[in-house]
Amino acid sequence: MYTRSSHSCLLQLFLVLAAVISELLAPPNATVDPLDPTTQHIGCGLATVSQLGTALAALEAKLAAAIRGLSNATTQANTTATDAAFAQLTQDLAALTGQVDALEASVAALNATTQQVSADTAAAIAALKVSLQQLAANTTAAVASLKAGLQQLQANASAGIAELMGDLQAVNASTSGLLRVGDAIDAATLGGVAPAGYVRVPTRVALYALGATLQGNLGGRAGADRSCQSDAGRPAGFLNARALLSVSSTDTIAAMPTLYGVPTNLPITSAAGAPIAANWADMLDGSLPASFAGAGVTTSAVSWTGATSSGGYAQGADCAGWSSASSGASGGAGDPTASSNGSYLSGFNITCDSLAAVICLVF
Ligand SMILES: *[C@@H]1O[C@H](CO)[C@@H](O)[C@H](O)[C@H]1NC(C)=O
Ligand SMILES: *[C@@H]1O[C@H](CO)[C@@H](O)[C@H](O)[C@H]1NC(C)=O
Ligand SMILES: *[C@@H]1O[C@H](CO)[C@@H](O)[C@H](O)[C@H]1NC(C)=O
Ligand SMILES: *[C@@H]1O[C@H](CO)[C@@H](O)[C@H](O)[C@H]1NC(C)=O
Ligand SMILES: *[C@@H]1O[C@H](CO)[C@@H](O)[C@H](O)[C@H]1NC(C)=O
Ligand SMILES: *[C@@H]1O[C@H](CO)[C@@H](O)[C@H](O)[C@H]1NC(C)=O
Ligand SMILES: *[C@@H]1O[C@H](CO)[C@@H](O)[C@H](O)[C@H]1NC(C)=O
Ligand SMILES: *[C@@H]1O[C@H](CO)[C@@H](O)[C@H](O)[C@H]1NC(C)=O
Ligand SMILES: *[C@@H]1O[C@H](CO)[C@@H](O)[C@H](O)[C@H]1NC(C)=O
Repeated sequence: MYTRSSHSCLLQLFLVLAAVISELLAPPNATVDPLDPTTQHIGCGLATVSQLGTALAALEAKLAAAIRGLSNATTQANTTATDAAFAQLTQDLAALTGQVDALEASVAALNATTQQVSADTAAAIAALKVSLQQLAANTTAAVASLKAGLQQLQANASAGIAELMGDLQAVNASTSGLLRVGDAIDAATLGGVAPAGYVRVPTRVALYALGATLQGNLGGRAGADRSCQSDAGRPAGFLNARALLSVSSTDTIAAMPTLYGVPTNLPITSAAGAPIAANWADMLDGSLPASFAGAGVTTSAVSWTGATSSGGYAQGADCAGWSSASSGASGGAGDPTASSNGSYLSGFNITCDSLAAVICLVF
C-alpha cells in the first residue's frame, strides 16, 4: 500500500538523484565545492579519479537512501497512489543504476590511464637517474683524464726547462770569451783593437813595416799576419791588420780584397798619411806616385813579397810558403825605393836567410 505523503517523498528523492547524475554527466569543465558533495560540478572528461570516487560515493549513499525510502514507502503504501507512478519511478531508478555502472567504467578507464601515466613517469625518472649516474661517472673519468694530462704536461714542462737550462749553460760556456753586457769595452776586451776601430768607417788603407827585419821563416800567412797585428808600430784606429805577401797561388797580394776584405776604393798611404797610391788597383798597376821608402814606410833596402810585379804569386820564390830561413831557398823581394815597373813588389830574388822588411797594411 502507498500513502500520498510517501509517494511525494519518493518523487522528491528522484529529483535530487537526477540532479546529482546530471552534475556527474556535465560537460568537461569541473569545479568542486568540497563542502557539499551534492553541488559538485564534474566534467567526466576532466574529473580526477579521486573526484569521481567521491562523487560515486555520494551517489551510492543517495541511492541507498532512496532504496531505503522506497522500502519505507512500500511498507507505508498509500492505496491511492497509482501503480503507473510507481512503475515509472522503478524504471527511472533502473536507468539511474545503468548510468552509475557507465560512470564506474569511465572511472576504471581513467584509473587505468592514470596508472599508465604514473608507470611511464616512473620509467622516465628511472632512465633519467641512470643517465645522471652515467654523466657523473663520465665526468669523473674526464676529470681524472684531465688531471693525468696536466701532470704529464707539468712533467714535460719540467723536462723541457731542464733541457733548456742545459742548453743555456752550454751556450754560456761556449761564449765565455765574448763580451757581455756590463763588460768594459777597451783594447783589452777587443783583442788589442781600440774601441774606435770598431765604429770608425775606414777612410784609407795604411802601410807600415814591422819594427824588425826578419828571415824568410815568417810562419806562413798566419804567422806573418799575427806579427803585423801585434806589432808595436801598428797604427791605431784600424780594425784589421795583414801582411802584404803572396803565399800561394790562391793567397796572393792581388787577392787580398777578396780574401780579407781590404777596401779597394780607399787611398793607400803611410801610417802618417803620406800618399802612396790612389787606390788598390793603382798600387798594383806597376807604378806608384810615391815609393814605399819615399812615403816613410820602411828604410830597409828589401821587403819580402813573394809576388810578381802585379801582386800575383812568384812560384818558387816564397821561402817554402814563408816557412824557411834556409840559404838554399829563395824568396821574392820588392825594392821599397822603386816606384815603377812593379819593382816595389818584385825587385829581387834573395836567399831566405837574408833579413828583409815585412810590409803590413791596416784598414
Ligand atoms: C493516501 O492517499 C490519498 C489520496 O491521495 C490520501 O487522501 C490519503 O490521506 C493517503 N493516506 C495516508 C495514510 O497518507
Ligand atoms: C568552465 O568553468 C569556468 C569557471 O567556472 C568558466 O569560466 C568557463 O566558462 C567554463 N567553461 C565551460 C566550457 O563551461
Ligand atoms: C524508514 O522508516 C523508519 C520507521 O518509520 C524510519 O525510522 C526511517 O528513518 C525511514 N527511512 C527513510 C529513509 O525515510
Ligand atoms: C585504481 O587502480 C588501482 C590499481 O589497479 C587500484 O588499487 C585502485 O583502487 C583503483 N582506484 C579506483 C578509484 O578505482
Ligand atoms: C658517457 O660516456 C659514454 C662512452 O664514452 C657515452 O656513450 C655516453 O653517452 C656518456 N654518457 C653521458 C651521459 O654523457
Ligand atoms: C709529453 O711528452 C711525451 C713524449 O715527449 C709526449 O708523447 C706527450 O704527448 C707529452 N704530453 C703532453 C701533455 O704534452
Ligand atoms: C754564465 O756564465 C757566467 C760567467 O761565466 C756566470 O756568472 C753565470 O751564472 C752563467 N749563467 C748560467 C745561466 O749558467
Ligand atoms: C822599367 O822597364 C823598362 C822596360 O821594361 C826599362 O826600360 C826601364 O829601365 C825599367 N826601369 C827601371 C827603373 O828599372
Ligand atoms: C824570382 O824567381 C822566380 C822563380 O824562379 C821567377 O819566376 C821570378 O821571375 C824571379 N824574380 C826576379 C825578380 O828575378
